[in-house]
Amino acid sequence: MDANRYSIPELVADVKRVCAQFDDEREIISKVRPLALRAAKSKDSWVEDRMYGANATQGFGVHLLHEEPDHSVAVLALAWLPNRGAPPHDHGTWAVVAGVQGPEKNEFFERVDDRSRTGHAELKKIGEKVCGEGDVVALPKGLIHSVWNESDSVSLSLHVYGKHVNHTGRSQFDLQKQTEMPFIVKVES
Ligand SMILES: [Fe+2]
Repeated sequence: MDANRYSIPELVADVKRVCAQFDDEREIISKVRPLALRAAKSKDSWVEDRMYGANATQGFGVHLLHEEPDHSVAVLALAWLPNRGAPPHDHGTWAVVAGVQGPEKNEFFERVDDRSRTGHAELKKIGEKVCGEGDVVALPKGLIHSVWNESDSVSLSLHVYGKHVNHTGRSQFDLQKQTEMPFIVKVES
């Protein structure tokens, strides 16, 4: 088995098999983790120069590698501009992120408000992890994280989601303003 020849179609087939076999999110995440890591380590078989492209307004670039017709099993490559990132957000589904190149600082949060006011959210930081080449960050549905590229170069990571995040009704949060808003990302064409 050549670890450098694990392609995105092979990853997708394996993730679809896992999702068909298991209902429990923890089981799915535990099985997808090593698959995403293997695909990240096989970057030479699928990474293209265009995947380092990013939207300057957004701060990162989203490159769709696979999405089922019902939006499930979405695989994306995300390029993070230097000293840019994404605000705290959830995904509305499970997520497994494998570092491909460069560091991405993740901060993790939990909601501490009672969710009684629409659009209002209070978050408390509960941890952080720098995800770089050879690292994996797994996020169950509902877990909130922010991402920041503290380096001077574009960083790249491989994201596997239970459903494309633009179709889950997920949220972004503002720590200072204590707000919750929809979070739709621009996907590169
Ligand atoms: Fe995320």
